[in-house]
Amino acid sequence: MGAVLSDTGGWRGWREATERALYQPGGFYLRERPADHFRTSVHASPLFAGAVAELLGRVDRSLGSPATLTMVDLGAGRGELLTGVLARLAPEPLARLRACAVEVGPRPEGLDPRIEWLTEPPAGVHGLLFANEWLDNVPVDVVEVAADGEPRLVLVAPDGRERPGPRPARPDADWLDRWWPLSEPGRRAEIGRPRDEAWERAVGCLDRGLAVAVDYGHRRSTRPPFGSLTGFRAGREVPPVPDGSCDITAHVALDSCGGTLLSQREALHRLGVGGARPPLSLARSEPAAYLRALNSASEAAELTEPAGLGGFGWLLHPVGLPCPL
Ligand SMILES: C[S@@+](CC[C@H](N)C(=O)[O-])C[C@H]1O[C@@H](n2cnc3c(N)ncnc32)[C@H](O)[C@@H]1O
Repeated sequence: MGAVLSDTGGWRGWREATERALYQPGGFYLRERPADHFRTSVHASPLFAGAVAELLGRVDRSLGSPATLTMVDLGAGRGELLTGVLARLAPEPLARLRACAVEVGPRPEGLDPRIEWLTEPPAGVHGLLFANEWLDNVPVDVVEVAADGEPRLVLVAPDGRERPGPRPARPDADWLDRWWPLSEPGRRAEIGRPRDEAWERAVGCLDRGLAVAVDYGHRRSTRPPFGSLTGFRAGREVPPVPDGSCDITAHVALDSCGGTLLSQREALHRLGVGGARPPLSLARSEPAAYLRALNSASEAAELTEPAGLGGFGWLLHPVGLPCPL
């Protein structure tokens, strides 16, 4: 696929270039269905929505069953997670649920009418804010250390060519010093400050409840030496080219966002999703039930595999209540 955006002029920092490529009119996420390009936990198995429904039930109990319990799915894709949660939540609290999808992309045709489609999270929420693979799509600038040992912003052309730019501005330089210090020429980093700020704003929509961001990420001790900026198109990893033709993403410095971090493996185990195989005796007594349980165990194994989805981080941020996980 060639360039999609018509305005292609100019060298820009990666943050601005990505913002335009993904979110300006005609950009990737306004046009494309995420599930056509990559597979998240939401698409991998309905067990994931089941676990989120379990978490929502726990948040509801911690809140003392408010008159309106709200779930906000931030970066909702095509509403798949909320659809799954609506199917799995117990009738009580389902009857009190306000389900809000927050998305820059259009409302899909035929979506359950109980799901509101918003461009910003509502204010004063009592409930759960859940953001699965959203933070990695919050655009960031990239720096590369020059021969003199100083980080320079990387500028990018619409066809993906790069060249060194100016030194990063003070707040970005401070973020790098604190969270991703660099000195060796050629080393690269993504400046996570816009993500920290985006997450703080998202958590701010909660009056009381729990905010959860789930993403692939790293901590200070495990930063990738050359960064992780990359592209995805039609299920394949491709070079990141900011012309609207592909997704552009980078792993998240989850530790700089604040909150408590758990692995997805640990979080799902705490919510009752395990990978244990059903007993062989079930195969003889109830073969159909055995096959269903086997299928479910293999989906659970995929969601919790430490080298795959299970290695994702769950960033937990309770507001006004103890963490129900
Ligand atoms: C990687 S997809 C994840 C979709 C879904 N959460 C899932 O797990 O399958 C990220 C989604 O976040 C949306 N998004 C990114 N920034 C956003 C913003 N500021 N407000 C609303 N949606 C946003 C994109 O349009 C895209 O659908």
